[in-house]
Amino acid sequence: MRLLYFVCWILIESSTHCKQLPPVILVPGDGGSRIEARLNKSSHGPYPLCDQRTKDFYVIWVNIASVVHPLPTDCLVENFRLVYNNKTHRTSYPEGVDIRVPGFGGTDSVEWLSDTHFPKLGYFHELAENMVKWGYVRNKTIRGAAYDFRRSPNELEDYYTNLTKLVEETYYMNNNTKVVLLAHSLGNLVILYFLNHQSQEWKDKYIRSFITLGAPWGGSVKALRMIVSGDNVNIITVAALKARPMQRSMTSSAFLMPTNQFWNKFEVLIQTPKRNYTVNDYQQLFKDLNFTDGFLMREDVEGLVNPLRPPNVEVHCLYGNGLNTTGKWVYEEGAFPDKRPKPVDEDGDQTVNIRSLEGCLPWKHLQTQPFHSKAFQGIGHVDIINHGVSIGYIKSVLTNLD
Ligand SMILES: *[C@@H]1O[C@H](CO)[C@@H](O)[C@H](O)[C@H]1NC(C)=O
Ligand SMILES: *[C@@H]1O[C@H](CO)[C@@H](O)[C@H](O)[C@H]1NC(C)=O
Ligand SMILES: *[C@@H]1O[C@H](CO)[C@@H](O)[C@H](O)[C@H]1NC(C)=O
Ligand SMILES: *[C@@H]1O[C@H](CO)[C@@H](O)[C@H](O)[C@H]1NC(C)=O
Ligand SMILES: *[C@@H]1O[C@H](CO)[C@@H](O)[C@H](O)[C@H]1NC(C)=O
Ligand SMILES: *[C@@H]1O[C@H](CO)[C@@H](O)[C@H](O)[C@H]1NC(C)=O
Ligand SMILES: *[C@@H]1O[C@H](CO)[C@@H](O)[C@H](O)[C@H]1NC(C)=O
Ligand SMILES: *[C@@H]1O[C@H](CO)[C@@H](O)[C@H](O)[C@H]1NC(C)=O
Repeated sequence: MRLLYFVCWILIESSTHCKQLPPVILVPGDGGSRIEARLNKSSHGPYPLCDQRTKDFYVIWVNIASVVHPLPTDCLVENFRLVYNNKTHRTSYPEGVDIRVPGFGGTDSVEWLSDTHFPKLGYFHELAENMVKWGYVRNKTIRGAAYDFRRSPNELEDYYTNLTKLVEETYYMNNNTKVVLLAHSLGNLVILYFLNHQSQEWKDKYIRSFITLGAPWGGSVKALRMIVSGDNVNIITVAALKARPMQRSMTSSAFLMPTNQFWNKFEVLIQTPKRNYTVNDYQQLFKDLNFTDGFLMREDVEGLVNPLRPPNVEVHCLYGNGLNTTGKWVYEEGAFPDKRPKPVDEDGDQTVNIRSLEGCLPWKHLQTQPFHSKAFQGIGHVDIINHGVSIGYIKSVLTNLD
């Protein structure tokens, strides 16, 4: 009741009628969920100094030590990789490693990547803090749907079952108020796949709208580097080559490769002195990397949201632009694939190319539900979650819904 009073008070101040804020479920992007592991391995594996057994689950992602010191990095890469089975087309954990995603439904594990709330590892925290000021309440009207971001939607069945329940539970918990799904980056593809597979009846009943931040609707050229050379992305400060086996093992990396809906066979994405690779040359690319399973992994995921189908719920498609973003990777003589490539830039949000960010725009004409989009000049891929301007826009969307 205090919440309702507070909201009504704000809305009366702005001379609107009284209404309940729509509950929001936050869905993180690549690397944006806290993940825990428990070890019970039959041997130490290649790194004798890594733990073989742990008593209980511990935070493996993000563990500050393992992203700044070399030894824990080796252990991270060894334990946090997935193992692809090219017969079943499924991934599993390495022998003796058990993984769980803590805090599903709560906001803590998506607000903070470290359980110690290490300030530099805040994720949705700034947004949640702002939402609380608008009358939101953590775990009641703001909820979190963390997932194992290493996997693609074709392996997230259990997550989707849990997410369906979470949406319904949140709706009933809040006096039958429809739920807003707010996702960042990869999380948007995970949610799009989810919505594409829900009945229209279910969506009409439970979903108020889908707010998308920095979605790589058609993949991103930057993601190719993770697979080819390794990438010390975002918070990992480790050497790129060390991270590569782990990044290659994640089917979400294959899922984020540029798609042939947005790039054509004349556009070089990877340039080497010997050979150029376009979106049509992925099979050759994986062959030249001696990583033929990689092509199978790509084939498994390439059709999950390609071609893009509208979610058929109200959409607010938000993204940054006007920033240098890799449009092509150029390898000098001897650099392919183990050395750092040079980027050739184009427009985007620093991580995702503009054509991919704008991939949602045709939905305006492809669905009957309202579609809104907004480009934020100069706001980067990660900044868009925390920036005052984008947060201000989200506020206007959430507090002005009828
Ligand atoms: C660890 O693995 C061993 C052998 O695989 C098994 O016997 C033991 O019960 C396991 N321990 C735990 C705590 O799961
Ligand atoms: C599947 O994996 C096995 C074992 O790693 C390998 O020998 C085989 O060549 C792979 N098959 C294909 C089709 O890539
Ligand atoms: C939210 O729920 C999680 C468990 O999912 C709990 O750990 C956390 O303390 C709760 N936060 C608040 C603010 O109630
Ligand atoms: C789904 O929920 C069940 C029951 O709470 C839990 O055991 C399981 O780990 C969850 N799975 C995922 C992928 O979130
Ligand atoms: C729930 O919604 C109904 C209909 O809008 C309203 O009459 C009722 O007061 C609401 N109850 C609460 C607890 O907010
Ligand atoms: C690769 O593409 C660049 C320009 O995109 C071109 O100049 C070069 O000749 C091509 N190299 C090969 C080996 O085809
Ligand atoms: C792939 O394997 C071949 C044959 O063993 C080798 O000559 C080549 O250098 C390898 N390429 C890479 C990128 O490792
Ligand atoms: C993009 O890169 C070019 C060339 O390096 C530079 O001149 C330009 O200022 C950069 N633009 C932005 C927005 O950073």
